[in-house]
Amino acid sequence: MRITCPPNTRLQDYLLSQEIHILTACGGRGNCGKCRVIAPGAAVNTMDRIWFTEEQLKAGYRLGCQVYAKTEALEVELIGERTL
Ligand code: FES
Repeated sequence: MRITCPPNTRLQDYLLSQEIHILTACGGRGNCGKCRVIAPGAAVNTMDRIWFTEEQLKAGYRLGCQVYAKTEALEVELIGERTL
């Protein structure tokens, strides 16, 4: 499933506003790795570097709980498990 996260928005907040629930077992602290997405335009943070290889980061893999769309909308592919 692909979505467009609007600018100045935390991905997790946007997904909740759309009633899309990705698996966030650690509550969004970056500790579980369950919230994987592909978002090549998103910044890479420290927790992404722990969970993903350099190749995966280049392919756009990110922890969804850490993704924030800054000044521009962000294209995101949801690849992890979702909850109801
Ligand atoms: S919710 Fe656990 S790493 Fe994102």
